[in-house]
Amino acid sequence: MDVNSKPVKSDKYLIDGQIHTWNGEFNKVYSTISLTDTYQPTFLGEVPNLTEKEGLAAVHAATNAYDNGQGIWPTMKVSDRIKCVENFVNQMKQTRSEVVNFLMWEIGKTLPDSEKEFDRTIEYILETIKSYKELNARNAHFSNVQGVNAMIRRSPLGVVLCLGPYNYPLNETFTLLIPALIMGNTVIFKPAKLGVLLHGPLLEAFNCSFPKGVINIVFGRGRELATPIMKSGLVSVLSLIGNSKAAVALQDLHPYKNRLRLILGLEAKNPAIILSDANMDLTVSECIMGSLSFNGQRCTALKLIYVHEDVTQEFLEKFSNKVDELVFGNPWEKDVFLTPLPEKDKPQYIKELIDDALQKGAKIINKKGGIITDNYIYPAVLYPVDATMRIFHEEQFGPVVPVISFNDIEVPLQDMSQSNYGQQVSLFGKNSTVIAPLIDSLINLVCRVNLNSACQRGPDVFPFTGRKDSAVGTLSIHDALRSFSIRTFVASKDNSYNNEILQELLDSKKCNFINTDYIL
Ligand code: G3H
Repeated sequence: MDVNSKPVKSDKYLIDGQIHTWNGEFNKVYSTISLTDTYQPTFLGEVPNLTEKEGLAAVHAATNAYDNGQGIWPTMKVSDRIKCVENFVNQMKQTRSEVVNFLMWEIGKTLPDSEKEFDRTIEYILETIKSYKELNARNAHFSNVQGVNAMIRRSPLGVVLCLGPYNYPLNETFTLLIPALIMGNTVIFKPAKLGVLLHGPLLEAFNCSFPKGVINIVFGRGRELATPIMKSGLVSVLSLIGNSKAAVALQDLHPYKNRLRLILGLEAKNPAIILSDANMDLTVSECIMGSLSFNGQRCTALKLIYVHEDVTQEFLEKFSNKVDELVFGNPWEKDVFLTPLPEKDKPQYIKELIDDALQKGAKIINKKGGIITDNYIYPAVLYPVDATMRIFHEEQFGPVVPVISFNDIEVPLQDMSQSNYGQQVSLFGKNSTVIAPLIDSLINLVCRVNLNSACQRGPDVFPFTGRKDSAVGTLSIHDALRSFSIRTFVASKDNSYNNEILQELLDSKKCNFINTDYIL
């Protein structure tokens, strides 16, 4: 939706290879971006509020398409599945401007970051295709061990329920959906609460790229749709990027828990640890990006900053000045860094966290910190923060930066050990004698130690995972292919009788599993 265009009535959904038109109840989509003199959310359009009936239809369509692993898609040649994904990505490229526009309006992401999200997703799909070809090539041989010949590959798992997050409604959703599909699974995808309209332009591309029932896209409330889908017991993989409580609630609905594989990217409370010899200018600029890019609405955002007491004042001064220089505006405006918060209750929630900290002894260090408007609250640098405050424990997922001073490195290490989360840490410092043992401790508390740089997911070839309540399973271009598949093989005793059969299977090219074809 451009500034001047009309609201969109998105009344389509995809089940069983058919784009249906919805005539029932709709959910209204508003943007917290206001274009009027007095604040007014902008009405963007409507999306279907599908019911249990459509949820069940979607899971049955996916189940039929999978057909206990006998369906066209799970048994298809790897090269043919790749062609379908290539076809999809070529069509998806045509939707760039429309999707980018929705990203700005629906979730308030800046224009450069919305474009980056789209382009990164295209890149992710292309790299996934490349990685699958390599995986296929590596497995295209027989191993002979103890008189047994075996061809070992990876096969699909079944029906995947895919639920993405609102902060990366395109990219993170597709980092689940695309590997799930390419490995031969069938999928039901329900977008998050925000970032829904942007999927409308992609429905047709999905529908004409994959066989019927392989991808089903439904819109509506999680409780209404995901509940019957999980209760059906037909889902083999729950893949979700979001909240750990929601993940537990969904697992609990599944009647056969041992059949359910989990691939989860959940919340985090990534700390920065700033040592006394850290390069302060570099540290400040990485902490700004780490804590406040996309207003701190990233699972990888820095959500607690520990600073050595020798440099606390210097850090607070430089960091606060930089925070107050950040420009707030609408996503398409030039040089804008802070943008409207897409969740309408978020400014108030952040204010509650700030008020709680103030009552318990913290102060707002920067001049603009905590200034609240209808759709924003200016980032507050809070200091000194301690464990009695809500901000210490809760994942703020928004613009507020708590700072803690320490003189003993055991303090952040202990806090991290006690934390429910274990995704990443940023460590700022120079002296390798100090850093060496710290890395050895930190790497067993989280899964990625970022030396003198902000926490982040990318580059996407690197493993993205976490300990404790931060993740289940590992995602990366390569790892996601493994996560959405299972190792399978054909084995036979190494004798002339069997080998002749194997040779015939190879020569005839009739078997999609036993082949040594190299896909360029
Ligand atoms: O919300 C969590 C995302 O995975 C973060 O990704 O580090 O690329 O912003 P990012």
